[in-house]
Amino acid sequence: MSPHRFCVAPMLDLTDRHCRHFHRLLSRRARLYTEMVATGALLFGPRERLLRFDGTQHPVALQLGGSEPHELAQAARIGERAGYDEINLNCGCPSERVQRGAFGACLMAEPALVADCVRAMRDAVSIPVTVKHRIGLDRVEDYGFVRDFVGTLSLAGCEVFLVHARNAWLKGLSPRENRTVPPLRYETVARLKRDFPALTIVLNGGLRDHAVALAQLARVDGVMIGREACENPWMLAQVDERYFGERGPRADREETIEAMRPYLMREVTAGEPVRAVLRPMLGLFNGLPGARSWRRTLSDPALLATEGPRTLDLALQALRASGGAQRARTAELQ
Ligand SMILES: Cc1cc2nc3c(=O)[nH]c(=O)nc-3n(C[C@H](O)[C@H](O)[C@H](O)COP(=O)(O)O)c2cc1C
Repeated sequence: MSPHRFCVAPMLDLTDRHCRHFHRLLSRRARLYTEMVATGALLFGPRERLLRFDGTQHPVALQLGGSEPHELAQAARIGERAGYDEINLNCGCPSERVQRGAFGACLMAEPALVADCVRAMRDAVSIPVTVKHRIGLDRVEDYGFVRDFVGTLSLAGCEVFLVHARNAWLKGLSPRENRTVPPLRYETVARLKRDFPALTIVLNGGLRDHAVALAQLARVDGVMIGREACENPWMLAQVDERYFGERGPRADREETIEAMRPYLMREVTAGEPVRAVLRPMLGLFNGLPGARSWRRTLSDPALLATEGPRTLDLALQALRASGGAQRARTAELQ
């Protein structure tokens, strides 16, 4: 069974170390990814703050943004030393800021350069070097383009490809629109797996439901879920059982909240804002009664300022008052 069978996607401003800690409480087996870290920030910026994570998070991959082989090699080495299990190169982000830095999705137009980057990183570290990319650029839906991209990188030693099954439209769409407007084409990703059976091909994009994701595992090695994992994190509680045939670590949501409490106290004592540590839990009751009051209480700036970590208890009280906790327990038992 591939270690990439179920991955939580890298997401800027979302999959920070607090979020990954919370996700790890819900699944022992999901493979976690950091937010993208630009090589410049890592080499010349607040390195310790960017890389810090607690040892319970493994397996966890560091995603890098960059296009200069020497800098990426240095950054990869730093990542390995910090304890990450994988270095992932971002070749899928379409934002204009990233394009100005000449990395992200625009790198798909330069497979030879990306191959140099992969080689340089592989020479620098002993952990896997993987690539996350799209299936094409702009409106061109030519399978040969992504096939040759993957082929070139596989010759450079990349064995794992995390494929967002959409083109990136480099002009005219915001990054957000670039996650919804270009059509999803799962068949292209399945075809990559057929053409490169020895490579690990992971499907990403638009997966919101375990049944749909599990069905895809008949034709790819793994699935990567982004937005749904953050908007509805309880879905991660089913991952160990449904994807790996193992019992998950958490029976119910309230137990997960209790498991988060020591971490909350420790981080807040160390100076982290309460809001930042609680944020990954906002969607925990999504779809159940009380979800809105839970979210509203947990993110209320005035409460957070006056009550600190006790905001969590107040949110639980609000949830219970709305009957949400009871409904959650019933849902968990079904
Ligand atoms: C808020 C946000 C930030 C993102 N940041 C990154 C990033 O840093 N690196 C990256 O490769 N992809 C990033 N993505 C894209 C996701 O990794 C993923 O490819 C995309 O959301 C499609 O998967 P989904 O439909 O399961 O969400 C981001 C997506 C979102 C919603």
